[in-house]
Amino acid sequence: MHKVLWLTDPHLVEPDNAASQAPAEAWQRFRRCLDDIRHDHADAELLVLSGDLVQLNNPGAYALLREALETLHMPYRLLVGNHDDRTALHEAFPHIPMVRGFLQGSDDIGETRLIYLDTQAAQGHYGELCPFRLDWLAAELEAASTRPAAIFLHHPPMAIGVPALDRLKLLESEGLRDLLQSRRAPTQFFCGHVHRNVSGRWCGHPFATLKSTNTQFAFDMQAERLRRCDEEPGYGVLLFDNGEVIVNYVDISTDH
Ligand SMILES: [Fe+2]
Repeated sequence: MHKVLWLTDPHLVEPDNAASQAPAEAWQRFRRCLDDIRHDHADAELLVLSGDLVQLNNPGAYALLREALETLHMPYRLLVGNHDDRTALHEAFPHIPMVRGFLQGSDDIGETRLIYLDTQAAQGHYGELCPFRLDWLAAELEAASTRPAAIFLHHPPMAIGVPALDRLKLLESEGLRDLLQSRRAPTQFFCGHVHRNVSGRWCGHPFATLKSTNTQFAFDMQAERLRRCDEEPGYGVLLFDNGEVIVNYVDISTDH
């Protein structure tokens, strides 16, 4: 069995960034998650952080994130989200793979291929996959052949029934749908961005999304505007074993 930790959307801020709109608790909550991991899951093989690592316009937070992650002494992979600055991120983490300017790569863990996909749009908070990135994914899946694949991406390609979030999903996901519909081997999506735990099936394959280590968005099937709620932060513990996938969710207390 292979244990992979999954965290998303910490929206970390630079200390003393007066212009930041982000909740001040971002670091405190993120560190609580790391403390929990240190205590209960130090045996994990890998940690994946699926985007929105920092709040918009806080590039100085990447160096602090690196310091924090390296206290775990565990390999990690990072995805880029709509709040991230790809260039600043790569400067702070030059060892994270980049493919022709996009932050994507893959690892084989046991028989499963983990694929990290860059869905950041040139502008805007929704996601996009240009033909280059889609072709790259097709090649990765082809190389995985009949082995299981886990695709990590920041923007979910599916609508989850929350209009304020759904308009910010991966747009023009038809190419991805076509690619995945023809894939017969076990494949699962792991998405960030929505700050909620949601699971389901899309184009024949299961998916999971994950709550933020910071603040959550409300389950509101009516509102046009994003609304935060006071649900607790958390992270995920993924278990991969011979083609089976288990997604465990851990909540973290925000009591002081
Ligand atoms: Fe986010």
